[in-house]
Amino acid sequence: MLRLPGLIDPHVHLREPGATYKEDWKSGTAAALAGGFTAVLAMPNTAPPICDEETLSLALTLAGQKAHCDYAQFVGAGADNASKLPTLANKAAGMKMYLDQTYGPLRLTDQAAWRKHFERWPVNKPLCVHAEGETLAAALKLAVEMKRPVHFCHVSRKDEILLIRAAKERGAPVTCEVAPHHLFLTEADIPTIGSGRSEVRPRLASLADQKALWDNLDAVDCFASDHAPHTLAEKDGATPPPGFPGLETALPLYLTAVNQDLLCLEELIDLCYTNPRRIFGLPEQPETWVEVDENAVWPIYGEDLHSRAGWTPFEGRLVQGRVTRVVLRGEEVFKDGQVLSQPGFGCDLRAIIQ
Ligand code: NCD
Ligand code: ZN
Ligand code: ZN
Ligand code: ZN
Repeated sequence: MLRLPGLIDPHVHLREPGATYKEDWKSGTAAALAGGFTAVLAMPNTAPPICDEETLSLALTLAGQKAHCDYAQFVGAGADNASKLPTLANKAAGMKMYLDQTYGPLRLTDQAAWRKHFERWPVNKPLCVHAEGETLAAALKLAVEMKRPVHFCHVSRKDEILLIRAAKERGAPVTCEVAPHHLFLTEADIPTIGSGRSEVRPRLASLADQKALWDNLDAVDCFASDHAPHTLAEKDGATPPPGFPGLETALPLYLTAVNQDLLCLEELIDLCYTNPRRIFGLPEQPETWVEVDENAVWPIYGEDLHSRAGWTPFEGRLVQGRVTRVVLRGEEVFKDGQVLSQPGFGCDLRAIIQ
């Protein structure tokens, strides 16, 4: 048996308020515990989006009633909330800016608006961006110019990771995460997964891009699932929304990579616990750990998952390493496939006085 700290997933979409048929705070946080994550940071592209005091308190009320694991909630940058958002900084996981087109209504196209948000959001509070390619380069340049710490979400391409690596070597105040689907899938997997189901932003990339992520892992700060559940009916429909469920498959994939010497256990703990805790300023979860059977070899099947999405792009893949038990703040919250904590057991990590 292998014992890991309670892992932190700094990028999940739990779909509540608004699209609880895809996921809600109960099913999403049950999936987190089943996947070995005792803390999740929830993205603001819900319906309505979380972008003011009223919507933040709505999300936090729902989470308080339903969450099985600990959490914090991001607020989203909009066209007209740059001056008001900072008043919510202490209650939010951080601020999220969508600088390219993806799922949800929160895209910011105007660079003047980026600058305003970079200026106003407190310099010591997490600021995350979805930015790809040229957009990433532009946001990085702005972060350096403004000496503004910025965290880049789901970096997926060789040009992007090399740019971030070079900026870090010059002392830029930037951090980044990569997602399991960009580490373990490429565009060559699209025919097997199916074209609608393969839709994700950033898109599945080339083998060279995938290799660059592995080769530059020392420039990566966090692993983040970007758990983005949509139903199979939606994914197989006429306008498939982008996103993959990922909370329950991430750790088994990482452990398989450890087993294949692509990664060592110390790096895994840095990427899934130490670094996200530092970057997002999260309190310790006392008496919290994850037990793993590191020898269990098992096939991933969507129908076995706790997520309401009920499917996975990793269908049928054999992995080595299985979460057997999770203890959160002294309570046994997951054992042998069953989530044992009650909805509402989870704590708002921003409400904990340290
Ligand atoms: C995410 C979603 O569905 O909310 N989709 C995705 O493809 N990653 C949005 C996002 O993280 O960009
Ligand atoms: Zn994104
Ligand atoms: Zn996301
Ligand atoms: Zn090592």
